[in-house]
Amino acid sequence: MIRLAIRVARADAEIALAELLELAPAGVEEVDRGDTVEYAVYGAAGELPALPDLRAAAGAALVEVTTTRVADDWASRWREFHRPVTVGGRLHVRPPWADAPAGSADRPDRHLIDIVIDPNQAFGTGAHHTTRLCLEALLELEPAGPLVDLGCGSGVLAIAAARLGWGPVLGIDHEHEAVRAARANADVNGVQIAVRHGDLLHGGPAPSAPTVVANLLRPLLEHVAHRGFQGEPPRVLVVSGLLRAEADPIAAAFAAAHGLRERTRRESGEWTALTLAR
Ligand SMILES: C[S@@+](CC[C@H](N)C(=O)[O-])C[C@H]1O[C@@H](n2cnc3c(N)ncnc32)[C@H](O)[C@@H]1O
Repeated sequence: MIRLAIRVARADAEIALAELLELAPAGVEEVDRGDTVEYAVYGAAGELPALPDLRAAAGAALVEVTTTRVADDWASRWREFHRPVTVGGRLHVRPPWADAPAGSADRPDRHLIDIVIDPNQAFGTGAHHTTRLCLEALLELEPAGPLVDLGCGSGVLAIAAARLGWGPVLGIDHEHEAVRAARANADVNGVQIAVRHGDLLHGGPAPSAPTVVANLLRPLLEHVAHRGFQGEPPRVLVVSGLLRAEADPIAAAFAAAHGLRERTRRESGEWTALTLAR
């Protein structure tokens, strides 16, 4: 097994990470190295991202690329950064290998909704800033009626929405691996959601519902704003995956095209999520 690590300047780390996650959607290990941040992926030779792609993703932030053969503990190290995360004191998202939160009657965390997510090859452990911001946004809304999750990855948002009370819930993703992971995760969590393969870039207007959540990167959100929705635009649209400077133009695009106005802005690290509503 090989550990492929790329060290980038701290100042540009979030931007480099956004690019890296396109190459390694299941997530990367993050190691703080002072002025630099190291991101690493594990895999067999031939399964890892190509070096030129990695260098291009890191751009000017690149300091060093290293490859190391790793021994038996690689699997546990890989799992280390898929850590459980609690959002808003209500949602507990954990990988299958982490224990359920203790929930005896005298513990305050008995109110936690326990969600088990195995990301497999899909994006979305719950721990990424962009996912967490969406979960926080969902918690602030009144769960009501149908919801669509555009770019559902592991299904974490769709499953959380179903557990919170939205229904029916539809997730779509252009990665077959994500569709498989989201369906498997829905089964594990005992929720009924529909998950479809679909490409937002080439599939016409995006599926719509009264509530839509879209944790996508800026170019795809711009495309959705421009291309529009099947039928009525959502009444509430949560968009995430935006760097801070990208939030205003995206808010403006949805306001101009669909009359959706900014209600809430959340920030975490370099990332921003917006709740837009008609
Ligand atoms: C940032 S991840 C979000 C995953 C999950 N919803 C979450 O919040 O953790 C973006 C997802 O969008 C999907 N995606 C990217 N481009 C897409 C496209 N053109 N059509 C449909 N899905 C796409 C990716 O495969 C990925 O699963």
